[in-house]
Parts: sequence; C-alpha cells; structure tokens
Amino acid sequence: MRPEVHVSEDPTAAAAERLHEARGQVVLTGGSTPRAAYERVAVERPDWAATSIWFSDERCVPPDHEHSNFGMVREALFDHIEGAEVHRMQGELGPEEGAAAYERELREAFGEGEPQLDFILLGLGPDVHTCSLFPGDDALGERERWAVGVETPGMAPLVSRITLTLAVVNSARSVVFLVTGEDKAEAVERAFTGPPDQGAPGSLVEPTSGTLVLICDEAAAARL
Ligand code: 6PG
Repeated sequence: MRPEVHVSEDPTAAAAERLHEARGQVVLTGGSTPRAAYERVAVERPDWAATSIWFSDERCVPPDHEHSNFGMVREALFDHIEGAEVHRMQGELGPEEGAAAYERELREAFGEGEPQLDFILLGLGPDVHTCSLFPGDDALGERERWAVGVETPGMAPLVSRITLTLAVVNSARSVVFLVTGEDKAEAVERAFTGPPDQGAPGSLVEPTSGTLVLICDEAAAARL
C-alpha cells in the first residue's frame, strides 16, 4: 500500500508533532529511531491525560534491561509526562505467556470486536520487519490473535519477542512509520512500492479503513 510520504529534513520533529496530537489509544514502538521524537514530545507535551499508551512489540527481557523497549520509552518519555495510562508488554514473562497476558489486557480494553487503536507509530528494519514481525515468520499469518510470541527474531537483539499482530495494526485509524538513514532505503522501497510480500513484513501493513503515513529523511526515501 502506498503511504502518504513526508520527506523531512527533521523527521524527529515531524514525528514528535504527530505524537503531540495523538489521543485515545496510542501505540508506541521501540528500536532506536523514535527515541529522539519521544524525548522531544516529552518536553512539548507534558500532559497525556485521556491517552492510553500501548506497545507494538517488546523484547523478552525485564523492563530495566538495556534492550527493553519499555525501558527506552520510560527514560525518553514516561519519566517526564503525566496522565498517560501505560500498558507495557511484560517481556520478563517470556514470549508465550507475555503475549497471552497482553492479549487479555487488549481484550479487556477493547472487548471482542476489533481493537480500534487511534494511532500507531512503527519503525522498519533493514530486513523490512516491523513490530517484531520478521520475514517469513508464522506470526505474519495470524488473523485471530492480537498479540503473539516470536521465539526467534530475524535480527539483533536475538532475544524472543512479543508483538502485536497485523490484525491489530491493520485495524488502526492511523499508522505512521518513522524511518531514517540510507541503510533503510531498500527496505522502504520494498515496504512501500511493491505488492504485499511475506518476505517484506512492512508491505503487509495496510490499514483497512485507516490512514498510512511514512515520515522519513531523504536518505531513506532515496529509492521511492
Ligand atoms: C524493536 C522494534 C522494531 C524497530 C525496527 C527499527 O523492538 O526492535 O520495535 O520493530 O522498530 O527494528 O528499529 P531501529 O529504529 O532501531 O532501526
């Protein structure tokens, strides 16, 4: 699915702007790229009342571990804001139990219908993975469950993961990818210019009735 593309000289600011406006049920992602945007919006928006924050995926480590996505977002954002209701994935429970616990939490919040998240921020790996949905993994075909465990990730850190499924991601009202750097240019091309491909998980993000936006720098957009 072709996104609305925003090539920016300052993708951090562009992403922080979106985060500033995000209300309701909001999903944040891990990895290194969004950290600066979280730090920036923490200063610009101290009040997150009426906002629930969920996670796209988590590494199966305790929350204070250096590889924890929650730990990164806590340092960059949660420690500096008020009012947000934070739903972290419990990586320390392991992939299966952690995913089952998150699924229960999502279903308590959304009931049995579709989990209609208002805003999802995602990243993209050089192998075109997004969330912890890696090329060719069974998790890509999951349509019933909302969160699943992934035993073997396709990329470092090589710890098992918990991830939202495409059933959740594609039900969202708004999905925004933040991708920067020349090492992502090919992944951006594969995710956003070709047909849906199980070998390129980013290309499977196709919100059924929501919007899809790509915020990137010129380097990441080089092959679009
Ligand atoms: C994770 C992520 C993952 C991330 C991409 C891009 O746990 O690693 O949530 O999906 O968004 O790997 O990460 P970078 O921004 O670090 O390149």
